[in-house]
Amino acid sequence: MTDDRSPLSRLSDQRVEYGARGEVAAGTDPFTFFSQWYAEAQAEIREPNAMLLATASDSGPDARIVLLKGVDPAGFTFFTNYTSAKGLQIAADARVALVLPWHDMHRQVRVQGIATRTSAAVSDEYFAARPRGAQVGARASHQSQPVDSRAAMHAAFDRVEAEFADAEVPRPEQWGGYTVAPHRIEFWQGQANRFHDRFVYESADRPAALDDAAAWTVARLDP
Ligand SMILES: Cc1cc2nc3c(=O)[nH]c(=O)nc-3n(C[C@H](O)[C@H](O)[C@H](O)COP(=O)(O)O)c2cc1C
Repeated sequence: MTDDRSPLSRLSDQRVEYGARGEVAAGTDPFTFFSQWYAEAQAEIREPNAMLLATASDSGPDARIVLLKGVDPAGFTFFTNYTSAKGLQIAADARVALVLPWHDMHRQVRVQGIATRTSAAVSDEYFAARPRGAQVGARASHQSQPVDSRAAMHAAFDRVEAEFADAEVPRPEQWGGYTVAPHRIEFWQGQANRFHDRFVYESADRPAALDDAAAWTVARLDP
């Protein structure tokens, strides 16, 4: 039994009223809409680029947070280890979903699309821009594999540091980006009485350029 004074016992009483932002109208194309919402999120909340990435796995759906590191009309880009659990799952089934959960703004953006690896040049460029410690860490980690101890992790880190003591740390081959090319994007704005605004853009189940207004149909959904 949960203690009555525990925050967990009060979850059903926890209620936030939405709607202070006013109503939302659909924009012309999803790129313009997303750009505008992202600019507002960046001004108002911490880590607006933290997003949920959902993948299909043999044991059912899987999900974790990754950082959005680029958006252009081709899609949404994040970086990771290609041999991690998510990397192997994407290799088997490239259909993924993203959720940007902007709670403090009573907003979320949901994306469904196809993930493809970024070019080596794009991965190299982003890897080179990372702090050196993160570069070393990326080389020292076999992401999602079991490791004996924190000490073993530090030893692996130190080995990589020693190996590249006087040199730039090269991007490991198994580390790089994915771009999610969307065919469905939903913008959700919380409203009073749980009567929210939802606009969904769809491109006939095929990924389309986000700024190509003619490729997208937009519909308002019931909350
Ligand atoms: C705020 C936050 C940001 C993260 N950003 C990334 C990221 O950009 N890339 C990444 O590979 N993992 C990132 N992670 C870690 C992942 O959530 C996850 O633990 C890791 O990628 C292993 O996932 P997998 O075993 O499903 O492959 C982040 C976690 C948090 C909480």
